[in-house]
Amino acid sequence: LPLNSDSHIADNIDPIQRERWDNVDRRRTPDHPTVHAFATGVINSFAHCLGKGSVLEVGCGNGHMTVPLSERGRVVALDFSLPMLRLNPAAGRTQALADGLPFADNAFPVVFCQGLLHHCPDPAAVVAEMARVSSRWVVAHEPNCTNPAMAAFSLSKRSEWGALKFRRGYLKRIFSSAGLNINTCHSRGMILPNKTPGSLVGFSQRLEGISLLTRMLGFYLLAIGEKK
Ligand SMILES: C[S@@+](CC[C@H](N)C(=O)[O-])C[C@H]1O[C@@H](n2cnc3c(N)ncnc32)[C@H](O)[C@@H]1O
Repeated sequence: LPLNSDSHIADNIDPIQRERWDNVDRRRTPDHPTVHAFATGVINSFAHCLGKGSVLEVGCGNGHMTVPLSERGRVVALDFSLPMLRLNPAAGRTQALADGLPFADNAFPVVFCQGLLHHCPDPAAVVAEMARVSSRWVVAHEPNCTNPAMAAFSLSKRSEWGALKFRRGYLKRIFSSAGLNINTCHSRGMILPNKTPGSLVGFSQRLEGISLLTRMLGFYLLAIGEKK
């Protein structure tokens, strides 16, 4: 499959993030049962945004989300890490930075990211870029540091420190500053795709069914914005 690469990109990446994401061995593959359960839950939470047009996935990694999204339609996958992109099976793959998307205004009906914004030096600039290339929906799924376990994990790893400011209010603010109407912004999810043992997925899904619990202590935040 064609892959548009950019040999100058490495000079513009924070070395901590680069070391983290060029190392692909720490990640499970998209066919791992935990990853599959996680990705299905995420996709179901914004399924009403998915129509006939292509989805742009920013910060696509090795394809945890790209693979199940591709079962619903065409996905264009973008990441700054070439080792990640090489593993990603998307129909179209582009190496670029999230704050400089190489696409025209309004190019995709849905622009989506999972686990990306908190790794970027300026998450608001990335959301503004996602809004520019979207003709309608912008969807972000990020850690929820109101959850003490997620906050402790984020504090324990240098490459995750950016997550510490990710709370509902912050995500809503950066969506509003990008000129988006906020369709929803809530916490959800009890499965960690690279950590939850396969044997605990059923139990975690039962916890996800307790809406009061996930609305207060979900591991993630889902924000859906619509262009005005
Ligand atoms: C937590 S992983 C998530 C990957 C995928 N979305 C998933 O759900 O498995 C974050 C991804 O964002 C990419 N990334 C981080 N900062 C980026 C940036 N500034 N521009 C483009 N990609 C970036 C990393 O290379 C990595 O693949």
